[in-house]
Amino acid sequence: MNPLLSIVDVIERLDQLDGLASSLAKLVGRAVQPRPVRNLLSGTVIGHPLHPILTDLPIGAWGMATFLDTLGGKASEPAADMLVSVGIATAVPTAAAGLNDWSDTQGKERRTGLIHAAANSAALCLYTSSAVARAAGNRGAGKALGLAGFGILMFGGYLGGHLSYANAVNVNKTAGREGPSEWTPVLGHTELSDGEHRKVEADGITMLLYRSGMSIHALDSVCSHMGGPLEEGTIADGCVTCPLHGSTFRLADGSIVRGPARDRQPSYDARIHNGQVEVRRQHAG
Ligand code: FES
Repeated sequence: MNPLLSIVDVIERLDQLDGLASSLAKLVGRAVQPRPVRNLLSGTVIGHPLHPILTDLPIGAWGMATFLDTLGGKASEPAADMLVSVGIATAVPTAAAGLNDWSDTQGKERRTGLIHAAANSAALCLYTSSAVARAAGNRGAGKALGLAGFGILMFGGYLGGHLSYANAVNVNKTAGREGPSEWTPVLGHTELSDGEHRKVEADGITMLLYRSGMSIHALDSVCSHMGGPLEEGTIADGCVTCPLHGSTFRLADGSIVRGPARDRQPSYDARIHNGQVEVRRQHAG
């Protein structure tokens, strides 16, 4: 096996990390509880995870600082120092967004995420020490500390990439779920009373149906955030709240009221026809 993947494999099995991870995740969960904070750090307000966008800033700044430290010569020393400082300043909001995302994970993803955060925190400490050494005129130590920080940063970045691309953390769990192109009966309309909801299946897609008078709302039942079961969620004020992390979607159109979800919940056309509740994908011909 690839040596890096072997390391990840070991980390994913380290259940000794679970106690610490659980306590830290609870603390983070409390800190991001206010809706504006949650929506901002999750990327709900921009419709895209915020953390991967922000990571470009410290990685880019510190990467360029390392390049200048190594190959830039004397003339580039002020630029290298400035880039180290930029990396430190941008690492803080990057970490905040990452901790918010991490607090929603479980199991092996939570363990890998904890080591990812620890590696990046170590890189931040090393670059901060590098900045202090540079300010004190000890450029040799500043460069060595920066180089060490960059090595650890790359390892942390590898773990972050593994979480996204191997474990599919923070990807839209409803991508590619379209529903039937034609009106498809899913249950008799008397089986769904006013104010009730029901999970049904059509064309391999599970949906949450909610009846309000003669109107039927149909949303995908798989939460776009991390796949939570919306049919087990709470319905109130025209919205459904996911039981896993509290994302709240409008039943009428799947739009997001509260994150951490960033992708609106797929919404389907629904009607009562010939005594049946029928559904189809939206904009179907
Ligand atoms: S799975 Fe996270 S909010 Fe639904």
